[in-house]
Amino acid sequence: MEKKSFSSGLLRVKLRDDFILESPIMPASGTFGYGDELVDMIELKYYGAIISKTITLQPRSGNLPERICETSCGMLNSIGLANIGVDRFVREKEVFYSNFHGKRIVNISGSCEGEYLEVIKRLEKCEWVDGYEINVSCPNVDRGGIAFGTDSHVLRSLIGKIRNNTDRFLMVKLTPNVSDICSIAVAVQEAGADAVSMINTLYGAAIDVERKKPALGRVVGGYSGPGIKPVAIALILKVKPELDIPIVGIGGICNGEDAIEFFMAGASAIQIGTAHFSNPAVAKDIYNYLVNYCAKEGISSIEKIVGVALR
Ligand SMILES: Cc1cc2nc3c(=O)[nH]c(=O)nc-3n(C[C@H](O)[C@H](O)[C@H](O)COP(=O)(O)O)c2cc1C
Repeated sequence: MEKKSFSSGLLRVKLRDDFILESPIMPASGTFGYGDELVDMIELKYYGAIISKTITLQPRSGNLPERICETSCGMLNSIGLANIGVDRFVREKEVFYSNFHGKRIVNISGSCEGEYLEVIKRLEKCEWVDGYEINVSCPNVDRGGIAFGTDSHVLRSLIGKIRNNTDRFLMVKLTPNVSDICSIAVAVQEAGADAVSMINTLYGAAIDVERKKPALGRVVGGYSGPGIKPVAIALILKVKPELDIPIVGIGGICNGEDAIEFFMAGASAIQIGTAHFSNPAVAKDIYNYLVNYCAKEGISSIEKIVGVALR
């Protein structure tokens, strides 16, 4: 693996004093595997950080098929957090993560507070982990996941306890499936998070008209891709004025212009998800677009446009 990125500094972003990314682009959890499966297909140097798929205490086989379905403006998934569990993750991914040039973020979930804390405890022993993204927003599991992300009291308690157990960079991934996302985001900030990432998938479903049945085995899944971009932009515009901590924007980003929209709405960095499935070179395309954009606009840093649409 190529160990170095080649940032000119134009795209450098600071998410915490000691957490600086040389590129503002990250893969969205679950759309990039653990990262190591993709080294022959994707040039990792364009990503400032890597984010694992969600890791849980025990291995999970995920939901029954069908787990993925294409829609006109994106896709539906009900993967159900299939993963190898924290112990295998620690054993098998150390070499790959240790050699990654940028920051290493592990996305975690649990079915109760104790599970989140145990996963953190085991990962704290790994010096090749730089930070965590806390998944409290998965719509595809029966226990845990989104149940933590929709109640600000429950979430405040969970994030406060995680904060007490790590000094590492701590980002909390918000669900759009709530009526008041601002109170959730503020609770997360008050509990000590360093950033929020938003948004996870929206609830969605489709009918397979040939089979006369729901397209997904679990009926309702998570909707992602270009169709959710306006929802993500609207929610970031809403949350940004309420927060002091940075926002990492997610939702339907497919090209450089989409990325610029997210920065202008208030995102300090971005994650790319569904777009990877149709364009494995999407991070490279966006990176090059952003460098050219800074040159064209005569700005010394992409950070200069963060939130300009709100000013
Ligand atoms: C196939 C698939 C699997 C996903 N798995 C996870 C996951 O394991 N953990 C997580 O936090 N989000 C997961 N997500 C949500 C994405 O990280 C992202 O928040 C969402 O897809 C919106 O971004 P996008 O429109 O760019 O895909 C998954 C999304 C997809 C499409």
